[in-house]
Amino acid sequence: MNDKPGQTFELTDSSAGRSASLPVRAGTIGPAGLDISHLQPELDVFTYDPGFGMTAATESRITYIDGDAGVLLYRGYPIEQLAEKSSFMEVTYLLLIGELPTAKQLAEFSGHIRYHTMINETLLRFFNGFHHNAHPMAMVSAVVASMSAFYHDTMDIHNPRHREIFAHRIIAKIPTIAAAAHKHSLGQPFIYPRNDLDYAANLLNMLFAVPCEPYKVDPIAAKALDLLFVLHADHEQNASTSTVRLAGSTGANPYAAISAGVSALWGPAHGGANEAVLSMLEQIGTVDNIPKYLAMAKDKTSHFRLMGFGHRVYKNFDPRAKIIREMTHKVLAALGRDDNPLLELALRLEEIALKDEYFISRKLYPNVDFYSGVIYSAIGIPRSMFTVMFAVARTVGWVAHWQEMISDPHMRIGRPRQLYTGAPRRDYIPVSKRT
Ligand code: SDX
Repeated sequence: MNDKPGQTFELTDSSAGRSASLPVRAGTIGPAGLDISHLQPELDVFTYDPGFGMTAATESRITYIDGDAGVLLYRGYPIEQLAEKSSFMEVTYLLLIGELPTAKQLAEFSGHIRYHTMINETLLRFFNGFHHNAHPMAMVSAVVASMSAFYHDTMDIHNPRHREIFAHRIIAKIPTIAAAAHKHSLGQPFIYPRNDLDYAANLLNMLFAVPCEPYKVDPIAAKALDLLFVLHADHEQNASTSTVRLAGSTGANPYAAISAGVSALWGPAHGGANEAVLSMLEQIGTVDNIPKYLAMAKDKTSHFRLMGFGHRVYKNFDPRAKIIREMTHKVLAALGRDDNPLLELALRLEEIALKDEYFISRKLYPNVDFYSGVIYSAIGIPRSMFTVMFAVARTVGWVAHWQEMISDPHMRIGRPRQLYTGAPRRDYIPVSKRT
């Protein structure tokens, strides 16, 4: 942490005999930021950072990650403690409001979410426009964006009450939309939310219940899903959260911004990795095949990558992966599925990869997506819905970051620059003179 307020870095262009003073902006913990907002006028240069790996695009008070130490804090609380002691509704309140709720505050907040879970019947009819084999992420992103056509009454993004109602609505309704996408894929009738069930149990009921017989949610599955939601709720300025911030910075309505986040999360390099890990494990098939696939993962000419491994920030174990790996054993045993061959394969793959020089030298460790799919499968969630589960949880983080940005009086539209490497200025050539 920079403990020298007012510190500046001097950047000198000796060839032109000019320099710029770059003020240092200190954070609470972690690296300080160099304020380069005046760099181009003073030195006529931009910084160059493809993928923004070394760029702090904003200040934020929500989540802190130390990638080298494998630390993840939600509003200062270690993810390990929240995973052990908290719940998804309590973590949702914490991420949105910034403090842990009292019992009364949690009961009131949970009530707001509980009584907003139904979606407009007309919105339900949108699903009939999709082919039965449409990917559920395509349905979820489309239906979330369509919500802006239904809630005109609360779309003033500068009205704190409108922002609060939006937050309650989208967090409450995203499980209903997720489950509706699944039911549409099955050709089964939608199951309505129930106010007597908590958040994760309600989603499981909407996913698996059918109208023709009673359905009892397995409390072990509900607890496991609640914990997975805690672990996936937020993660600083990841690609989908940055997408929500960039889309929201234009003043677009919040449903459009969240829909953009859903689309960004879908990619296999991001939230889509949990689905890709299961496909990869099935492709590898047996422990004997691991060396062959590890060789492919290291071969630059092959497009094969070890899905669920590596991370832009974590150069140590992803703390969430550690927690999920531990809980996988317990959940599968409790569900009577601890003979899952995919878990054994994943464990052996991790063990072998972590001894391999290629992965060691590049600090490639299992990330949050490596084990989560094994648990989703054990709960009965189909692979095409894995990333939808991620989106349900991450909606909380997206909303928290959107609210933090929109309520910042200094917020500006996001507009990165570029390093132009195209053709210099040239004149138009008439087609008759082109060769
Ligand atoms: C999530 O940002 C977040 O916080 C995301 C997330 C969240 O909660 O929001 O944590 C969720 O998206 C987790 C990541 C899920 N994705 C995967 O598991 C897909 C597999 N992983 C990779 O595609 C990759 O590791 C990324 C995309 C996650 C990170 O890519 P980077 O930071 O751009 O890393 P890189 O490509 O620069 O890799 C550095 C080196 C390269 O080799 P060299 O050029 O040095 O020889 O490591 C290699 C890469 O080829 N490498 C891998 C690898 N990941 C990196 N090689 C094989 N298999 C891999 N998985």
